[in-house]
Amino acid sequence: MTSALIDIRHATAEDAPALAAVREEAWRATYQGLIPHITLQQMIASHTPGWWEKLLRMGASVLLLDFDGQTQGYATYGRSRHGPAGYEGEIYELYLMPVYQGAGLGRQLFEAARRELGRRNLQGLVVWSLRDNEQACAFYEALGGQPGGTAIERLGGERLERIAYLWP
Ligand SMILES: CC(C)(COP(=O)(O)OP(=O)(O)OC[C@H]1O[C@@H](n2cnc3c(N)ncnc32)[C@H](O)[C@@H]1OP(=O)(O)O)[C@@H](O)C(=O)NCCC(=O)NCCS
Repeated sequence: MTSALIDIRHATAEDAPALAAVREEAWRATYQGLIPHITLQQMIASHTPGWWEKLLRMGASVLLLDFDGQTQGYATYGRSRHGPAGYEGEIYELYLMPVYQGAGLGRQLFEAARRELGRRNLQGLVVWSLRDNEQACAFYEALGGQPGGTAIERLGGERLERIAYLWP
């Protein structure tokens, strides 16, 4: 999992502040203009370092991507919660700091999370993305994901469509 500058590793409770910081910056950059402002603020504010610490202490699966010793991205994953039948694994969240996007790191993090799900014998993978998040949709399609259903999410009074990308 390690190369000279890039290290993909399992997060521990000590990583909670870094996770909160990466999520805040990545979510702001990704969802400003897509998710109504106040709702986005609330969705960012809810994931404090304390929230992450509790999640990690409960045993959640979180991979971090460190670049030159600094956390610049993360993926959370586990058993699928809302996926179609037959798709047992899910990557719940996959986020990189904006300046680290577009350089192949997302692919590395995605593949690492996928391998971890495979090790747990979870068959098939689903990842949900907002349809309006064109970057994420293009990324999942480039990685071979097949659109396999949609769902409507109500956020701040708006109806936003989510797409399920599937890997058998
Ligand atoms: C989505 C995200 C994780 C992708 O990671 P990344 O490091 O930027 O993507 P990579 O450089 O690894 O790209 C992998 C492939 O996706 C393609 N891709 C990535 N972004 C793309 C875009 N905006 N348009 C077209 N293709 C794109 C790349 O061309 C590459 O394909 P290739 O290997 O065939 O050339 C990252 O950009 C990110 O964190 N975005 C903001 C948060 C987000 O939207 N997360 C997903 C929420 S569902």
